[in-house]
Amino acid sequence: MNNRFERTGPLTELASYPHWAQDMVAACEPARQQVVGHRLWGRMREARLDPEGTRNFMVGIWPVIERFPAYMARNLLKTEYGRSPGDDMARRWLVRNIRVEQNHADYWLNWAQGAGVAREDVLHGARPDGSQTLADWCEEVSRHDSLAAGIIATNYAVEGATGEWSQRIYDSAAYAQSLPADKRIQSLRWLQLHAAYDDTHPWEALEIVCALKGTAPPADEVDHLIECVKRSYIGMSVTLDRCLAAYHVAGEEVGEVAA
Ligand SMILES: [Fe+2]
Repeated sequence: MNNRFERTGPLTELASYPHWAQDMVAACEPARQQVVGHRLWGRMREARLDPEGTRNFMVGIWPVIERFPAYMARNLLKTEYGRSPGDDMARRWLVRNIRVEQNHADYWLNWAQGAGVAREDVLHGARPDGSQTLADWCEEVSRHDSLAAGIIATNYAVEGATGEWSQRIYDSAAYAQSLPADKRIQSLRWLQLHAAYDDTHPWEALEIVCALKGTAPPADEVDHLIECVKRSYIGMSVTLDRCLAAYHVAGEEVGEVAA
């Protein structure tokens, strides 16, 4: 197959990937910016997100945290050893990285607890309206779409953007100091693990998708992957909007009662 993609350049440089992949990344950049530049992060960094907003965030994002290894497992089910080098690469990578996710749900709960949100509330509390958007989309794409679509939507798009916002929060001394001193280290563990300083996962996911699709996939297949990446970013920003919107509504109600 002369359209086979084998990376020769550095893993973490976009120029190492086929032109179609570079174009895909560029086409999705405005949607990605809506996630990594979301106003919720600014508030969190400055330790200005009030208890209601913090609660909505912890409870609203939880379904994606809890399901993330399951999305990967659904994609693993689509692989078949020996079918193609991309399949073999995806299979090996997913098996290894599902294991890496093992403790991340516990770490999220530790973070929530440090931020004042009880484990019971995260697990069983009412979710902010509409905050299921991202979880529903990740479930759909992992369950019903192709291996490449599932990996690009979750391990590339969701993990990639998460690495960036995690780093923004983790870098904030004001945020760290807003957490109780005796729980600070364990509360920050999830952020520390997901902060993108030298995280290669999203790049590895991109490499797998390029191995699956080759150097010259049909335009409609590229368009579909672009759509999947955008839907992940939009799902993330809608979920974040809903976490803040619920917070605003709650804030206004409190204001009205006080007035
Ligand atoms: Fe994780």
